[in-house]
This record gives sequence, structure tokens and C-alpha cells, in this order.
Amino acid sequence: MLSSPARMFRRVSFDDAAAFSPWPARIRAGQPWRSGRNAAKVEAEYDSRYQELLDAWEQHKGSTPNLPTSLRGLSFLHKFDQLNWRQIKRHPEIYGDVDPDQTLLSFEDELYIGNAMVAESMFRQLVVQAVARARQIHDFDAVVEIGCGTGYNIINVACQLGLPSYGGDISRHSADFVNKVAQDTGLPIGAEKIDYLSEDFTRLAKGKRWLLISVHALEQSPQMHLDWFRRVIGSANAPVAAVHLEPLHSGDTEFAQQCVTYARINDYNQNFTLALADAEKQGLVKVEEHFPRVIGSTAFNPTSVLRWSAA
Ligand SMILES: C[S@@+](CC[C@H](N)C(=O)[O-])C[C@H]1O[C@@H](n2cnc3c(N)ncnc32)[C@H](O)[C@@H]1O
Repeated sequence: MLSSPARMFRRVSFDDAAAFSPWPARIRAGQPWRSGRNAAKVEAEYDSRYQELLDAWEQHKGSTPNLPTSLRGLSFLHKFDQLNWRQIKRHPEIYGDVDPDQTLLSFEDELYIGNAMVAESMFRQLVVQAVARARQIHDFDAVVEIGCGTGYNIINVACQLGLPSYGGDISRHSADFVNKVAQDTGLPIGAEKIDYLSEDFTRLAKGKRWLLISVHALEQSPQMHLDWFRRVIGSANAPVAAVHLEPLHSGDTEFAQQCVTYARINDYNQNFTLALADAEKQGLVKVEEHFPRVIGSTAFNPTSVLRWSAA
């Protein structure tokens, strides 16, 4: 029998959470953790993180000779979670001395301690579910993810929903990796190096009717503006709708304020929700649904789910 979330994850107060993570103390102090985030710094940060991906993929292929190619992409994702944790463990100065079995998480504005891998799978499944929900309402033949990183979401969407899924990312290693997986597995995926802030990324959809998605990618740009929506909506082949799974700032609960402080001290995006409200006021987009702070596999950087369509 499956455990209920209440037993799998143990509730903690903000004060008690400090024993499991350095973030409560940093949020309380409110001191900037890093600043001056820009596209060049983000590119350098993710380039160094993704460098190991191609090697890990080759090792994965070598160690799973009997696995059908169709399952190779999905099974690699689990290995990627472990690779990610090794990278986290290498940087206690950022993440603290964390234990994957007892990490600080959040669900709908409450803090919990629980297993990081379980929370990560729930978060990844939320992405697939959000695309499936969008498909019940909108007609599209492809998904485009901006800031696709390791291709985690496009691999999941292509495998689980059978939808061609394309990505764009500022890190060149991201596109190299996704295209290698496509070549080795035959999955209908692909990626290009793009800057979603300054470039027209609608070409990624290859002329299909498409859904735009972003998953913790817009968070990387401290400021987003109305012009971004104008450009996306005004392009020759605009998306039929968009789903953002991002830390979107809204509401005034104590936890919502702690999330704003987290974004500020990390120099993450703080104004996407305002830019979106402007776009809605200008009649460019219509917000269809918004579920705030559903799950935080990083507690104070929780994923909200928001869908808009062209008005
Ligand atoms: C936190 S990661 C998320 C990756 C992926 N969406 C996922 O869910 O695993 C953020 C990604 O956004 C990419 N990124 C940040 N700024 C970008 C930009 N201006 N244009 C394109 N990609 C960008 C980074 O390179 C990185 O891969």
C-alpha cells in the first residue's frame, strides 16, 4: 500500500527547518546570496553543470545493453537525478550538508522533511500532467520548452504523451545532449542553442501548432517584461497556449513572502507575474488557470502552475 503524503513527508515549522537546510537562516537574514545575474553568467553556470551529461549518457548506454532503446531515455533520467545529487553534495557552501532522505520540501505553502527523489519525481510528473491538461483544451501537435536543460521534460512528454517535443537552451551542452539522445533512441525530440530573452524561438516548433512550456527557466532571468509577451504573441507562428511551471510570486502569506525573499537574495526572477498581468491588461493573453506553489522540491523555490492562451 502507498503511504499517504502525510506519513511520507513530515511537517516542520520554519524554525525547525533550519536544522535541515541553510535557507531559513539566510531568508531570515535577507542578505543577497549572489547578484548581478545575467545571460552570460547563467550560460557559464549551466555549461559547467551539463558538461558531464554526454559522458554519463555513453556510460548509461554501455551499462544497459539489453534495454530497448525506447526505454533508454526514461531510465537515464533517474540516473540524472543521482548525478544531480552528487553535484549538490560537492557544494555544501551553497546547499549545506544535506541528506537526500531528509531534505526540506514544501507543498502548498507548508514545509516538510522528506525524500528528495520522491519529491523530484512528483514534480516531474506534474509537468507531464500540466501538458496533458492543456491538451484537453487546446489543439497542438508539438511542445516547445524554453530553457530545456537536460531535456528531462521533453523526454518525459515525448515518451509519456507521444508528442514531438523540442527544446531550446542557452547552454550549448544542453542541445548537444538532447540531440544525441534523439539520435540514439529515435525519440521525436530535438534542441537548439537559444536565448529565450532576446531571440525568436518560435522556429523551434518547426511550423507545427505548438504549446510553449517553461520549467524553472524563466526564474533565471531577474526581470521579464511586457515586450517579451508582445514578441511571442506577435510572431508568425505563435503558440496556441503556454504552461509555466515556475516559482511565480503572488499572494501575501508568510510563506509567499519567504519565497520572494529567496528569489531576491538569489537574484532570481521576481516580476514575471507582474509582466503577465500587464500582458493580460493589454489584451495579449488570457490566464486560464493558476495553481500557486504546488510543490517545492527546493522548498522556498516552489513550482506554481500557470496556463495562458492568446487572447
Ligand atoms: C533550473 S534549469 C531548468 C532546466 C529544465 N527546464 C528542467 O526542468 O530541468 C534552468 C535552465 O534555463 C536555461 N536558461 C537560463 N537562461 C536562459 C536564457 N536566457 N535562454 C535560454 N535558456 C536559458 C539554463 O541554461 C538552464 O538549463
